[in-house]
Amino acid sequence: MDRFIIEGGKKLKGSVRVSGSKNAALPIISAAILGSGKTVIHNIPNVKDIRTLVKILEYMGASVRFSNNTMEIDPSGIDRFTAPYEFVSTMRGSICLLGPLLAKYREAKFSMPGGCVIGTRPIDLHIKGLKKLGVDITIEEGYIVGKARKLKGTTVFLGGNFGSSVLATANVMSAAALAEGETIIEFASCEPEIVDLARFLKKMGAKIYGEGSHCIRIEGVKKLNGVEYSIIPDRIEAGTYVLAGCITSSAITIENFIPSHLLSFLDKIEETGIPFKTGTDFLKINNITSRWKPVDIVTLPYPGFPTDLQAQMTAFLTLADGISTVTEKVFPERFIHIGELNRLGANITLDGPKAIIKGVNKLIGAKTMASDLRASAAIVLAALAAEGETEVSRIYHLDRGYEKFEEKLNGLGANIRRIR
Ligand code: EPU
Repeated sequence: MDRFIIEGGKKLKGSVRVSGSKNAALPIISAAILGSGKTVIHNIPNVKDIRTLVKILEYMGASVRFSNNTMEIDPSGIDRFTAPYEFVSTMRGSICLLGPLLAKYREAKFSMPGGCVIGTRPIDLHIKGLKKLGVDITIEEGYIVGKARKLKGTTVFLGGNFGSSVLATANVMSAAALAEGETIIEFASCEPEIVDLARFLKKMGAKIYGEGSHCIRIEGVKKLNGVEYSIIPDRIEAGTYVLAGCITSSAITIENFIPSHLLSFLDKIEETGIPFKTGTDFLKINNITSRWKPVDIVTLPYPGFPTDLQAQMTAFLTLADGISTVTEKVFPERFIHIGELNRLGANITLDGPKAIIKGVNKLIGAKTMASDLRASAAIVLAALAAEGETEVSRIYHLDRGYEKFEEKLNGLGANIRRIR
């Protein structure tokens, strides 16, 4: 298993370019099977989760070519409508294939994703939405088995106890694009990744209105076409590099980044007193001359503070000049990084879904273990600022979602070695 050895305490400088969004790419690649011809998608990050989705598509019979961040998908050979446990268990996001499969082929047998270290992760909203569209769904031996004679437009409320659901919105919107009649999704997710999926579907010929709001209306069409499309930049990767600059007090520039996709995050960075400026597609951190102020964070669905930056923000706040709090309202158990950050000398305690972070003067390198994608990124950020050497084992979690992570950070002057 690969691990990182990180020599901390280095100032970063220069610029880093953000890759395409993993969480936009997953539902868009999945929706490509709705097209009647080949689809070409650019700016796809070459990360493990994407390669797992490709394996599932190939298993189903699709032909996929992926090189230089461009993917060509030809769905014409699909003749197996099954996603087996071996694949789904390693990548929960593959659930976004369920809606497109049912819409196009009217049948699917999909392994139940199960929980993961960030929580139990139910799929009731996906099932509710697809059932309302007319799919008959049963759970058999750990599989979701769906069958439909036809999909019919409906009104569906997709809010759950923790707000809207990103991939349930993606599944229902993709399926409704080929349903008969009009579908209205109430309490839809408004994440930029959902807007990107809607734009992609519209390019294929779908009729979708209201994306980016909590109410999306879809007029079903009979056929969708293969198209050429380019994915938006990854706002979570961008936020991670912003925090790499902040935690090491380094003046760096983040390129190919849409600041308007991260307003709640940038608002909090501003509140800490970190000086930065933004343009339409970049962010530049200016000289940081003092410790930053503590802040209180609450994660929420978009446009609230993203849960996918919670762990990295927590790492940054360990060195703030005072006490911060971080309350997790999307995945209340997503705090596995805290134990590892404390191993580096942080002072974080947990009170239910709220972390209380007492800022310390310094972090000191130690042996740590990665446990989930964003938690791993948080440990790396803390290690960059820590005195001495940090070892991060099990970095396959990072490889799931960050393209060339150590290469990009080393390009900024970090000292990260991968031991294979
Ligand atoms: N939820 C339900 N029922 C459902 C679905 C979700 O109760 O049927 C709950 C979840 O348990 C959670 C909340 O609703 O408490 C929000 O979950 P959501 O469904 O929005 O999450 P997701 O769509 O499965 C995507 C991202 C996650 C990101 C979340 C929230 C992808 C592939 N995954 O997951 O990304 O954390 O939205 O923004 O898009 C990551 O990239 O590290 C990651 C985990």
